[in-house]
Amino acid sequence: MKPRVLSGMRPTGQLHLGHLVGALANWKKLQDEHDCFFMVADYHALMSEYEHPAQIQEWAHDNVRDWLACGIDPARSVIFRQSDVPEHTELFAILSIITPLGWVERVPTYKEQLREVEGRDLTTYGFLGYPVLQAADILLYRAHAVPVGEDQLPHLELTREIVRRLHALLKVKIFPEPKALLTEASKLMGTDGRKMSKSYGNTLDLSESAETIRTTVQKMFTDPLRIKMTDPGHPEACNVCGYWRTFAPDRAARVWEECRTAARGCVQNKQELAEVLIKTTEPFRMARKRAGNVDRILREGATKARAIAKETMADVKAAFGLVKRSTGPAGKVRPAGKGRSR
Ligand code: TRP
Repeated sequence: MKPRVLSGMRPTGQLHLGHLVGALANWKKLQDEHDCFFMVADYHALMSEYEHPAQIQEWAHDNVRDWLACGIDPARSVIFRQSDVPEHTELFAILSIITPLGWVERVPTYKEQLREVEGRDLTTYGFLGYPVLQAADILLYRAHAVPVGEDQLPHLELTREIVRRLHALLKVKIFPEPKALLTEASKLMGTDGRKMSKSYGNTLDLSESAETIRTTVQKMFTDPLRIKMTDPGHPEACNVCGYWRTFAPDRAARVWEECRTAARGCVQNKQELAEVLIKTTEPFRMARKRAGNVDRILREGATKARAIAKETMADVKAAFGLVKRSTGPAGKVRPAGKGRSR
């Protein structure tokens, strides 16, 4: 049996090139050797966007369209929306019961977001539980591995701690302890050289028109030490040259050399890069035009996801004495011990 992988993305906007190199390209590859579950985390999106929820479902659709365009394959992977599988909130509630307050208050992303996110009130009961819902997402499918960026590692660690606590408290073994699959993402810089992020307005969306790509690339920052075309360039310090490495690795060595020797100017470098990016994003523009079978894919994905989620919930409920143990395949309930194990 292939190891199982689950990952999720919050539908908080259109996807950009950073999502492609940071997550989607990796998801696509994982499909070959893993049993993959890819989830639209719309409850997680609501936790921060609850004041303006109108666009979330539009983005959810739009994001899935981009997933399909980049090769996430519904015949091999389960593609679904969190809110279509009510077991997510059910397990979230149960895990909340056993998760010590101190554990969630300590999660670094929580404190950081409270400090840094502007224009949203994140001091809600639900937002504190953000990583507990994420743990429920992962555990419902008994995932072995979770492809994530570095910022998500504390959430994975919390998930493992919750698993150990649940097993120790109830003397059962229901879940594998999920591992992080760190995406060795070439972190893509935004068009202004800062981290690519919608909140900086420095993104190139996957669905961008060819014309916008040309004008945006024309405005990209280059090597600040290269003023005249005859000055030798420093490609390692140039954002445009960095993009060449990421998006046309087979041509990048030559481009870098020509930049270094001033055989290639920044204008030409940008013009050619724009064409490379237009080609890279072609499938996404096409996907946008194709009328949606996204609804059907999400419906079928939810059915598959739910079948597994229900099995897990039966085991969890049995462990808590909420239902009689069925003859399911998973963990045996051993005689309950007295007292706490932690
Ligand atoms: N918190 C993740 C992010 O912001 C999204 C997410 C929700 C997720 N549930 C998940 C990622 C489960 C991996 C597994 O990127």
